[in-house]
Amino acid sequence: MTHPIKKIAIIGVGVMGSGIAQIAAQSGHITYLYDAKAGAAQQAKQQLAITFQKLLDKNKITTEYADAANANLLIANELHDLKDCDLIVEAIVERLDIKQSLMSQLEAIVPETTILASNTSSLSITAIASNCKHPERVAGYHFFNPVPLMKVVEVIQGLKTDPKHIETLNQLSRVLGHRPVVAKDTPGFIINHAGRAYGTEALKILNENVTDISEIDRILRDGVGFRMGPFELMDLTGLDVSHPVMESIYHQYYEEARYRPNSLTKQMLEAKQLGRKVGQGFYDYRTGSKTGETSAKVAERLTLYPKVWIAADFEDDKQLLINYLTTHNIQLDVGAKPQADSLCLLACYGEDTTHAALRLNVNPAHSVAIDMLYGIEKHRTLMPSLITEVTYSHAAHSIFNLDGAMVSTIGESIGFVAQRILAMVINLGCDIAQQAIASVDDINAAVRLGLGYPFGPIEWGDEIGSNKILLILNRITALTSDPRYRPSPWLQRRVALNLPLTFTT
Ligand SMILES: NC(=O)c1ccc[n+]([C@@H]2O[C@H](COP(=O)([O-])OP(=O)(O)OC[C@H]3O[C@@H](n4cnc5c(N)ncnc54)[C@H](O)[C@@H]3O)[C@@H](O)[C@H]2O)c1
Repeated sequence: MTHPIKKIAIIGVGVMGSGIAQIAAQSGHITYLYDAKAGAAQQAKQQLAITFQKLLDKNKITTEYADAANANLLIANELHDLKDCDLIVEAIVERLDIKQSLMSQLEAIVPETTILASNTSSLSITAIASNCKHPERVAGYHFFNPVPLMKVVEVIQGLKTDPKHIETLNQLSRVLGHRPVVAKDTPGFIINHAGRAYGTEALKILNENVTDISEIDRILRDGVGFRMGPFELMDLTGLDVSHPVMESIYHQYYEEARYRPNSLTKQMLEAKQLGRKVGQGFYDYRTGSKTGETSAKVAERLTLYPKVWIAADFEDDKQLLINYLTTHNIQLDVGAKPQADSLCLLACYGEDTTHAALRLNVNPAHSVAIDMLYGIEKHRTLMPSLITEVTYSHAAHSIFNLDGAMVSTIGESIGFVAQRILAMVINLGCDIAQQAIASVDDINAAVRLGLGYPFGPIEWGDEIGSNKILLILNRITALTSDPRYRPSPWLQRRVALNLPLTFTT
């Protein structure tokens, strides 16, 4: 791939700057290292030499490759040494005034053709460029930690950025081995924006006392396939990082309900219960490993099971349940209305059991709802109503544990755990597309590579069934009146026209 970037400068060679310098030098670019702290650039170069030696020891690179990468790294003692660089990437302290002043200083040194890029996570590129004589040369170039392993980079188009520079950065990214995703200069860009649903909705579920943290983590990790549950993830990232991001995006979008943070993480932050790094977060790590996890409940086998009457929003769910129940010799009640002592199994979407039972005109005391959004192969979530008799909730738990699969029984929630989280993730992805912050392909790739979700949010909606996602959101909105759950017009129109969510004109 051809691109005009030969010489790159990295300003600020801390965690991020060193990582960017590593991939720049490894891909054959002359890479200058500059840092305001005396000796920091030299130290970063030495540290990178150790990194290359480790890669050599593991046979991941050759001696020639390591020598070339080392030779590509040059120390700049003053900003003036960067005068003939084609690209300068700043990864200095996250302060708008300091970044603005650096950009103005650089403009006085480099030719007009030099691209000035910022690795900022949370500041506006347009604001960083606002004091520049040529704001069209300023772009965002947002890498993720650790840079060599996180193979995605957000290329941010400020209000005045020249599109030809975006194209150049795209091409360079591919040479660096990263997938570029182009985003408009908006709060959180793509990845920190799309990532707002997972943690905030999990916190809201916890706040509503639906179930405990390990059960929520288990449902999302083992049932849905997220690499980590939301509480495990927040413990790993640290609340000193994740809580301020939640607050910042919420405020930058003028208190948009979709991003609403939670007072629980604020309080934990105040108590310095930040997560793994301090030994205590949502879980306890003080013994050296994770504790405080509750284990999945194993049901006792019953000698007698009630007949099961099924109501389902979707016919395919009903069929799956009938197959499971008949395979395990559970008698079905196939009447139009349930018999007086039947267990009413409600495969509902976006409701709690109380509301589903009342809508269907069946006895809430004999009702248990089941989440069918992700099928019943790996994991099952059951939800008795507030007044479900214990014999019925035990029977349901036991029936769905007959083949040894994991079963979570949760308290009443308007929409189950997986339904709420997935509907929020997908809806947020759709809204990012609706705002034309990025293309559908880039949103999907950014979320897969940057957040590690099994699918991008928009392709995920098609995979699960966008009509199911819309039903969840519509029902939750109707029952809670919370604008947080209102469906994006992107989702509404495509479901109405029976088009895939990935459809664009
Ligand atoms: N750490 C992350 O996970 C992460 C991820 C993506 C983006 N970012 C962004 O990258 C930037 C750097 O973050 P970091 O975590 O690498 O920080 P860091 O503290 O590890 O490194 C910053 C470096 O910049 C130097 N520096 C500070 N002010 C300077 C100046 N005026 N001129 C030259 N050098 C200066 C410091 O001496 C330090 O070496 C920030 O804008 C941050 O928002 C961080």
